Amino acid sequence: MKFNTPAGTNPIDQLKVVGRATDRIDGPMKTSGTAPYAYEQHGVAPGAAYGYVVGSAIAKGRIASMDVVMAQRAPGVLAVVTAANAGKLGKGKFNTAKLLGGPEIQHYHQAIALVVADTFEQARAAAQLIKVKYVREKGAYDLAKAKDKARSPRPDPDSPADSKAGNFDAGFAAAPVKLDLHYTTPDQSHAMMEPHASVASWKGDHVTVWTSNQMIAWGKGDLAKTLGIPKEQVRLVSPYIGGGFGGKLFVRAEALLAALGARAARRPVKVALQRPLMMNNTTHRPATIQRIRIGATRDGKITAIGHESWSGDLPGGKPEVAVQQTRLLYAGANRMTKTRLAVLDLPEGNAMRAPGEAPGLMALEIAMDEMAEKLQMDPVRFRILNDTKVDPEKPGRPFSQRRLIDCLRSGAERFGWNARKPVPASVRDGRWLVGMGVASAFRNNLVMKSAARVRLERDGSVTVETDMTDIGTGSYTIIAQTAAEMLGVPLASVAVRLGDSEFPVSAGSGGQWGGNSATSGVYAACVKLREEVARKAGYPPADAVFADGQVSAGGKSTPLAKLAESGEIVGEDAIEFGKLDKEFQQSTFGAHFVEVGVDAATGETRVRRMLAVCAAGRILNPKSARSQVIGAMTMGVGAALMEHLALDKRHGFFVNHDLAGYEVPVHADIPHQDVIFLDETDPISSPMKAKGVGELGICGVGAAVANAIYNASGVRVRDYPITLDKLLARMPAYT
Ligand code: MOS
Repeated sequence: MKFNTPAGTNPIDQLKVVGRATDRIDGPMKTSGTAPYAYEQHGVAPGAAYGYVVGSAIAKGRIASMDVVMAQRAPGVLAVVTAANAGKLGKGKFNTAKLLGGPEIQHYHQAIALVVADTFEQARAAAQLIKVKYVREKGAYDLAKAKDKARSPRPDPDSPADSKAGNFDAGFAAAPVKLDLHYTTPDQSHAMMEPHASVASWKGDHVTVWTSNQMIAWGKGDLAKTLGIPKEQVRLVSPYIGGGFGGKLFVRAEALLAALGARAARRPVKVALQRPLMMNNTTHRPATIQRIRIGATRDGKITAIGHESWSGDLPGGKPEVAVQQTRLLYAGANRMTKTRLAVLDLPEGNAMRAPGEAPGLMALEIAMDEMAEKLQMDPVRFRILNDTKVDPEKPGRPFSQRRLIDCLRSGAERFGWNARKPVPASVRDGRWLVGMGVASAFRNNLVMKSAARVRLERDGSVTVETDMTDIGTGSYTIIAQTAAEMLGVPLASVAVRLGDSEFPVSAGSGGQWGGNSATSGVYAACVKLREEVARKAGYPPADAVFADGQVSAGGKSTPLAKLAESGEIVGEDAIEFGKLDKEFQQSTFGAHFVEVGVDAATGETRVRRMLAVCAAGRILNPKSARSQVIGAMTMGVGAALMEHLALDKRHGFFVNHDLAGYEVPVHADIPHQDVIFLDETDPISSPMKAKGVGELGICGVGAAVANAIYNASGVRVRDYPITLDKLLARMPAYT
């Protein structure tokens, strides 16, 4: 189905099932521990051996020699896989560095060997016996130093390295009120609960890998490329995933090594990337340095806005496009953005929840707060005043929906914003200095082709098959809701099968496009199935109504089960998105409100209250969507206060590479969270009229926390995370 014109009324609009707060259909399996995650696929790969990954101890250089003899002779060892014995390996489209390094080393903890043994303990013990001699080379690890040599990244039509409108230099020079400041965000790790894990099993020259991956088709293609075999010989299965956040968008070392290990050992092999390898072996969100310039009239109208961002990556890598939102969020005739990429020999940088906007808004939305203060204007009012109804770089190009003002206004009202004192450090509650902060939320809405197959089974039940993944987001549930609505059957009659490369290729879970795109693919397949069913019943497809397990037309009804009695009826199709996302700017909007207490004596920050207001199209399942947003808000608190991969700039690695050293918020850090979804449908976005929401929730949170800390304490920190050492020296005198 081609989606080329705005959606009209369709069966989803009945909202009998879609749009209702619905428990996850996979919830009981998850909470009872019976949903098999990758490492627990015992049944499908009996007798699996265990792999233990060895990571490089240097960041850049070469392996001069590697002695694996002792390891090979150790008890229980079946194979030791290295680049020297793995055969010729290719490189996947989505991987920047090689998944199995050697002799050249591209980054610290790049995998250099897999030891396969009968037990995990044997593999681990044998791995310690491998002797490696390295030749270390000088690498570049410090973004601030590499910044001046940073270049324009590879041209990308969707996010060009630079953008311009009007005359920024002249506009900024002429502005009576100006801000010109730098902000920095650190390297961050996805730190999902389930590590990267895979079980591989060969049958002849075909390999099946049960894994934990967000994008099945990308993974299948890249694993085949890396192994140097046709992709028809690779099957990926990933039904349950314990978090991804972008870290599982691509196949990683453990999947390749499981396949190589299983080939070498002639047995299925399971590999979970050891937790201490995760931060340096896999991808991370790259650190940024951002410069923001804003010029405004004295009455608060932005006349010039400029945003430059620097980040680093390995040769051939990608930048963090932190300027993305600044191109679209606020009005202003004179504009510029610039993205620069430095070559760094650190572990590979890549997408982490809301790549671009998440770190970009951490800078921009502090700058907006600072600018409002210069103008002596309320920060909510300053944002409202600079709203735009059209793409400010291409006037005339409208947004499909844009309700930023509604988000800010209704949020301010619900949060009690008018109680905020504009003068910092003026509210005290016992030992706490109390303050409030606000930030706009913005994340583009991407749409991706997505296919599905829907079967009406002989007993009248419905089965949906698509390679879509559920990374803890609720995909199973919204897909079941979609099929139930389209076919007029109860939710309990729908079975959803996901995450298998044997199924039709979906949009996958990434860039907050998964929910809207994948359900639209299921919608398209259901339209096909409805036509088949109506034809079989002898009704004109256009008149057929599906309700209560029956298809009806012209005053007659036939039970679905009766029509499928003699054999299942199948509908398969894909949604393909045409030009609507070019003609209209599709974005999601929101506003974050945060209240913090800063300990007057120690500078410790505690978040006291949080509110997110989101305008993100139709909300398909308010329960799982809320869950997504509160999770994203929590992650935003982590970004504001804790998360930070500490970089050793001499040796080029992240020092705090486990969950003891890399801090993320826990329950005790998170107070009451409130989420409001504005009632919105977006017919430009898809037949579901939905948009993404899972990434919008993190966008702006960091800055809202930073602004609340400033309002509480009078200390402005422009260097994340805002740890107490950055506050303490500048706090008001303790009384
Ligand atoms: Mo998202 S960072 O594209 O999983």
